[in-house]
Amino acid sequence: MPSPSPYATDARLRDGTLVHLRPLYAEDEAEFLRGFAALSRESRYRRFLDSMPKLSPEQVTYLTHVDGKEHVAWVAGFYDESGVEHGAAVARSIREHEDPTIAEFAIAVADAWQGRGVGKLLTEKLAQVVWQDGVRKWRATMLADNVPVQHCLASVAHEETRHVEDRGAIEVVYRLHAPRPAP
Ligand SMILES: CC(C)(COP(=O)(O)OP(=O)(O)OC[C@H]1O[C@@H](n2cnc3c(N)ncnc32)[C@H](O)[C@@H]1OP(=O)(O)O)[C@@H](O)C(=O)NCCC(=O)NCCS
Repeated sequence: MPSPSPYATDARLRDGTLVHLRPLYAEDEAEFLRGFAALSRESRYRRFLDSMPKLSPEQVTYLTHVDGKEHVAWVAGFYDESGVEHGAAVARSIREHEDPTIAEFAIAVADAWQGRGVGKLLTEKLAQVVWQDGVRKWRATMLADNVPVQHCLASVAHEETRHVEDRGAIEVVYRLHAPRPAP
């Protein structure tokens, strides 16, 4: 396992549940695949804007073997009674080649964990991490009715542009807010 990130942290959801926020490691591949298999059809569609019944080996490698610089991915995990960590969500920020201050944002929270604050917490953590590395804007493609992800992003950024795409999707460019200094 790589050395722990200085930004990795424990946090509590509104209901008091402890979650651990940390970078995604290549060793998480099996857990990532379990999480993907367990996603509902609706969540899968909302994440990929495609039914995406399965991932190719190349897609799995791309999504799990990230360099932490061009492609930054963080997970939120929770602990079971034995103290073993299980993945609840993954969010990523992938820099654009033409302008490395802009990155594509995507997130998926396991169905059982949705609506409990995990998405917002993880979005805030990822924004803090990538800001330190010079990312200033996120581009995100989502269904226009995806209010929860728009709320997650509005907590760390403001909307700059919005384009209507095919099949009910929109592409939104967000300008990230500078992280608040620690008290
Ligand atoms: C979208 C998603 C990431 C949000 O994560 P989440 O953990 O469910 O969301 P949270 O509990 O952190 O809530 C985030 C905000 O959305 C609001 N929200 C949550 N569920 C909602 C719902 N069903 N309807 C309206 N608002 C909702 C919350 O009130 C919160 O806003 P606020 O704090 O400003 O009040 C998650 O639902 C998900 O993975 N969905 C499927 C995949 C997807 O849509 N990915 C995004 C593609 S980029």
